Amino acid sequence: MSRCPVLPRRSPAAPLITLAVFSSFLFLHPSTAARPWPHQTNNLTELQFGGSKKYEGSSEFVKLRYHMGPVLTANITVHVIWYGTWPKAQKRIIREFINSISATHAPSPSVSTWWKTVQLYTDQTGSNISRTVRLGEEKNDRLLSHGKSLTRLSVQSVIKAAVTAKTKPLPISPKSGIYLLLTADDVYVQDFCQNVCGFHYFTFPSIVGYTLPYAWIGNSGKLCPGMCAYPFAVPEYIPGLKPVKSPNGDAGIDGMISVIGHEIAELASNPLVNAWYAGQDPVAPVEIADLCEGIYGTGGGGSYTGQMLNDRDGATYNMHGIRRRFLVQWVWNHVVNYCTGPNAMD
Ligand SMILES: *[C@@H]1O[C@H](CO)[C@@H](O)[C@H](O)[C@H]1NC(C)=O
Ligand SMILES: *[C@@H]1O[C@H](CO)[C@@H](O)[C@H](O)[C@H]1NC(C)=O
Ligand SMILES: *[C@@H]1O[C@H](CO)[C@@H](O)[C@H](O)[C@H]1NC(C)=O
Repeated sequence: MSRCPVLPRRSPAAPLITLAVFSSFLFLHPSTAARPWPHQTNNLTELQFGGSKKYEGSSEFVKLRYHMGPVLTANITVHVIWYGTWPKAQKRIIREFINSISATHAPSPSVSTWWKTVQLYTDQTGSNISRTVRLGEEKNDRLLSHGKSLTRLSVQSVIKAAVTAKTKPLPISPKSGIYLLLTADDVYVQDFCQNVCGFHYFTFPSIVGYTLPYAWIGNSGKLCPGMCAYPFAVPEYIPGLKPVKSPNGDAGIDGMISVIGHEIAELASNPLVNAWYAGQDPVAPVEIADLCEGIYGTGGGGSYTGQMLNDRDGATYNMHGIRRRFLVQWVWNHVVNYCTGPNAMD
């Protein structure tokens, strides 16, 4: 992330951000601020049809390493904080995605098969990341306790308010709980839309009282869908690029689903930022979802999303949840050394 010229360098206290860019591409071409759409340095024809080499982020240069810290091996519980005004219909889509991660009865290719790549990561004792991910408690912060514009530090204060609330506080479970702060489409968070769509980190005992792995993900629907809800929206400044139809009829939320998947995968494999990541710099680690950002199917990489699926209504997706379809980026598979996902053609 620090490679992206648009972004200020993060301090050690700064959370791990999810860029609206191809980190895998960045990784190979450190000087390029690549985005998940065509740009001048990227030859789409070459990426799609160039040679027989498997792409999907595969690279001899990716050195993902285990740094001996914990991963989430116990049943994972996802606690959600809804910040701002959240229509029921939007909540339902997100809840179903989280509930689909461990669902055993979704049609193939499924969200639970997508999670199998994450389960490949182990800790020092050889224990795998948990197969079970369930939706935990939810807290509404409808009245915007910390305002309409959050900083990275005030994000932690919002979490503190949720876990210390007088009525129905969120449970405190540092070993198996992850906390998602989801902001409504009119809420701004520091760096949002400046190449950042979400981030994860852990809370500081000095602010929250506990060390809890958490992530923030924003609904970009109004602020910057072309950046954070791509390919369901496209940036205005690229003429001729057409958005694809989103599977649940809400580009902001459908775009958010992939970022939620990204952050949950990284929280599970690097909850305290001392477990699985690539790169020399622990301040700017490249994690298992960063390596596959923008890759949704076979052949993906560079500016090409890879082969996705289309439903009868023409909506684009790449995996099934319990009742809905979702488009979720792939994650890095350290066993085979490339990005994998449930809709792989081979
Ligand atoms: C893109 O790559 C293809 C295949 O290598 C090549 O034929 C074409 O000329 C390239 N286009 C540009 C604009 O470089
Ligand atoms: C646990 O991780 C190891 C090493 O990546 C892998 O071979 C094994 O299949 C994983 N087990 C499960 C249940 O995913
Ligand atoms: C973990 O979840 C599984 C269901 O997926 C359940 O059978 C098991 O009892 C749970 N373990 C704990 C310790 O809660």
